Amino acid sequence: MEDSRIALPIGTTLDRFIKNKQDEFQYATGELSQLLRDIALAGKVVNREINKAGLINIAGAIGSQNIQGEEQQKLDVLANIRFIRALTKGGETCAIVSEEDEDITDLKNEGKYVIAIDPLDGSSNIDVNVSVGTIFSVYRRVTPVGMPIINEDALQKGIEQVAAGYLLYGSSTMLVYTTGHGVNGFTYEPSLGEYFLSHPDMIIPDEGNVYSINEGSYNSFSDEVKEYLNFCRTSNYSARYIGSLVADFHRNLLKGGIYIYPPTAKDPNGKLRLLYECNALAFIIEQAGGFASTGNSRVLEIQPKEFHQRVPLFIGSKKMVEQAESYFKS
Ligand code: AHG
Ligand code: MN
Ligand code: MN
Repeated sequence: MEDSRIALPIGTTLDRFIKNKQDEFQYATGELSQLLRDIALAGKVVNREINKAGLINIAGAIGSQNIQGEEQQKLDVLANIRFIRALTKGGETCAIVSEEDEDITDLKNEGKYVIAIDPLDGSSNIDVNVSVGTIFSVYRRVTPVGMPIINEDALQKGIEQVAAGYLLYGSSTMLVYTTGHGVNGFTYEPSLGEYFLSHPDMIIPDEGNVYSINEGSYNSFSDEVKEYLNFCRTSNYSARYIGSLVADFHRNLLKGGIYIYPPTAKDPNGKLRLLYECNALAFIIEQAGGFASTGNSRVLEIQPKEFHQRVPLFIGSKKMVEQAESYFKS
C-alpha cells in the first residue's frame, strides 16, 4: 500500500487533510470523513454563537438575527441543538448520546456511527469570557444497520472509539482530533471560514511541571490524592486550573502536565463523564503519547454501565500520570 502517512504541510486545509488521510481509516468509505466535516461545520456555527455571547443581553444586538428565537437559550443547550442538527443532516450518524440529554437519540437512519458529545464544556466560563470547548467521541454501532438502536450501541469501551476530538473556543478556535493515527490540530481562520493544519502530529512531553486540579476541594480528597499533591508542591510544579477541561487539557497537551479530577465529597466518582469527556480525551492523550487513568485503571478499558457515568480522571504526560498512579498502588 502507498504510504498514506506522508506529512502534510502546515497550512493544509482541514478538508484537504481529511481527504488525504481517508485511506488510513479502517473502514474507508468516506462516511467518517463526512462526519468529521459535519462536526467541523457545527463547530463554526457554535464558535459564532460563543463570540456573540457577550452581546446577548445587549438589547437588540443579535435578537433580530435569529428567526427561531434560539438565542434566548443557554449556550450549552444551543450548542447541543447545533451539533445534533449537523449530525442528523449529515446522515452518517445513527445515534447520539449527549451530556445535555437524558437518553440516547435514535436518528432512525442508515448511519453507521454513534456519537457521544459534550456540546459545551466549561459552560460556566462563558459569562466571564474564558475559553470553552466541545468534546466528541465516534463509535461504530454494534447493532446492524436498519435495526433499532439499543443502549449498547453507545455503552462501548473507549478503546472502541474510531475517532475523537475537541473544539476549543479560545483566543483562537481550534479543532483537534484523532482517528487512531496520531493527533492533529487545526486552527480556525474566521474571515476565511476555514480550519488550517497548525499542529501536526501532536505529542505530549513525557514529563511536565504543571498540575491542574481544583484544590479548593482539598479537604475532601483521599489521602492518596493529598500525598500526590504534596509531591507536586515539593517538586515546585506550577498550578494551572482554568476550570474548562478542554482548555486545561489543551495547555497540558502542548506543554506537558497532568489534569486531575479526583473523587470528592460532593462527587464520589469525580465530576467528569466517562462517555462525554473522559474517553475522548483519553483516546487523544494516548495517541499523543500520554496516558489517562482513574488512579487505578486505564480509562479506555472501562465498560460503561450508564450514559452519564462519572469516573475519576488523571490525564496528561505519561510519567506524571504513572507517578500519580503509584500513590494508589503502594
Ligand atoms: P460542563 O461545563 O460540560 O458541565 O463541564 C465542566 C467541567 C470541566 O470543564 C471542568 O474542568 C470542571 O467541570 C470544573 O469543575 P470544578 O468547578 O468542580 O472545578
Ligand atoms: Mn464538560
Ligand atoms: Mn457541557
